[in-house]
Amino acid sequence: MKILLTEQQIQEGISRLAAELNTDYQQRPITFIAVMTGSLVMLADLIRRLEMPIRVSLIQASSYRGGTQSGDLWLDDRAMLDITGRDCLLVDDIFDTGKTLAKVTERLQSMNPASIRSIVLLYKEGQQRYPIEPDYHVFRIPNEFVVGYGLDYQDLYRNLPYGGVMEEDDLAAHASS
Ligand code: IMP
Ligand code: MG
Repeated sequence: MKILLTEQQIQEGISRLAAELNTDYQQRPITFIAVMTGSLVMLADLIRRLEMPIRVSLIQASSYRGGTQSGDLWLDDRAMLDITGRDCLLVDDIFDTGKTLAKVTERLQSMNPASIRSIVLLYKEGQQRYPIEPDYHVFRIPNEFVVGYGLDYQDLYRNLPYGGVMEEDDLAAHASS
């Protein structure tokens, strides 16, 4: 698989982000809201480098696949903490069209947090179709399909420690595995 981001580049990127958050938030408590499942690997690395008090909450976002409603997003917030009056940081793996960030932010706003900001590992350039931007991103990438470090293709490859690009050969190999 073609490697877009090495394990070392990703770890350095996460350390840079952690330093920025430690500066920006100081000792202000943060409630992290991890968009399942792609953000889990990043979340685990990031929060261990942070110095303020941290809570972790989960929200599941899934796109409908296969049907004609393929663009619709389904949210499951049953595992959410109470975020009323809390400073929240939403974490997702990748910012593509912006739909996930837009929809999850809208849902969280209805829960009356003190503030909501957002972090993504990857910012895919030129794909945005919603009027929202993440507050922090670790890497900008071209429009390629990336797997690893949390990101999946058909629910596999999340455990790769690097960011790889799925190309024709890789898709063929995936299909026969
Ligand atoms: P958006 O809602 O269009 O911004 O897309 C964000 C979601 O699409 C992410 O949470 C991912 O689950 C998925 N996604 C978009 N691009 C990729 C990719 O290159 N690799 C893996 N998942 C992706
Ligand atoms: Mg995702």
